[in-house]
Amino acid sequence: MSDDPQAHLRRAMLQQLRDWQSAGVDVAPHGRVLEVPEELLRAEVPAAPIAATPAPPVAPQTSAPKTSAPPPEPKRPTAPPPTPRPAPAAAIADGDKQQQLEILAAEVAQCVKCQELACTRTQTVFGVGNPNARICFFGEAPGADEDKQGEPFVGRAGQLLTQIIEACTFRREDVYILNTLKCRPPGNRNPTPEENANCMPYFVKQLEIIQPEYIVCLGKFAAQNLLQTEAAIGRLRGTFHEYNGAKVIATYHPAYLLRNPSAKRDVWEDMKMMLRDMGISIPGAK
Ligand code: URA
Repeated sequence: MSDDPQAHLRRAMLQQLRDWQSAGVDVAPHGRVLEVPEELLRAEVPAAPIAATPAPPVAPQTSAPKTSAPPPEPKRPTAPPPTPRPAPAAAIADGDKQQQLEILAAEVAQCVKCQELACTRTQTVFGVGNPNARICFFGEAPGADEDKQGEPFVGRAGQLLTQIIEACTFRREDVYILNTLKCRPPGNRNPTPEENANCMPYFVKQLEIIQPEYIVCLGKFAAQNLLQTEAAIGRLRGTFHEYNGAKVIATYHPAYLLRNPSAKRDVWEDMKMMLRDMGISIPGAK
């Protein structure tokens, strides 16, 4: 066994792809990726896909000199200070993103805009992941498992989503995962238009803080809510859409894939479209 870190990485990737296959996910049409494990062992390993923006330098703290302060100058009339404008989105520093998300999450936790949901939820399910993520995975609403654990996509559909994320060479903690709705609709019913409208400001703000490059909409409710369209998921797939400067991909919901495994290859096509655009190559995938 070689100690070459590249070889180690390749083996880890291969193992991951095998795991994915054994979990029932067809990672490529006709199983091409999984038919060529030895090629994969030799293939180029993609560079670390998630580059966190370096934190801006911290300005040194200055303290006022304690001795011989000059006498204060007489006050002159000054122009009124300019009206403060919100900082441009691009100016949010990395540390601040985490802090801003925490403040927003605390606000969401108190939300009672939808009476029924507020009465029936165990807790709100805000979102999870890297505040500096390049990719956000955007789902519909928490289910029973998510409601219990307070984290999106932790049930069966969530496990499949994790496999999809890993097949894209990321870890769950590299990306950010959120939902359109922050509360579980009882009995897993579809969210009402009013609930969607009530919760929309929260995901809008979340995405404004994170500023992802890519947003993967999982299922029709997520895509239609984000893009404000009535178009079916089949029509939205296959091309990039735009949302506040992010590239949006619409694909099938993992829960749909559990019921229709043959659609996994469509999701993989959608993921490859995104990965190509990101400049990330998956060995063996066409
Ligand atoms: N389905 C979703 O859309 N979101 C979750 O968090 C879980 C299941």
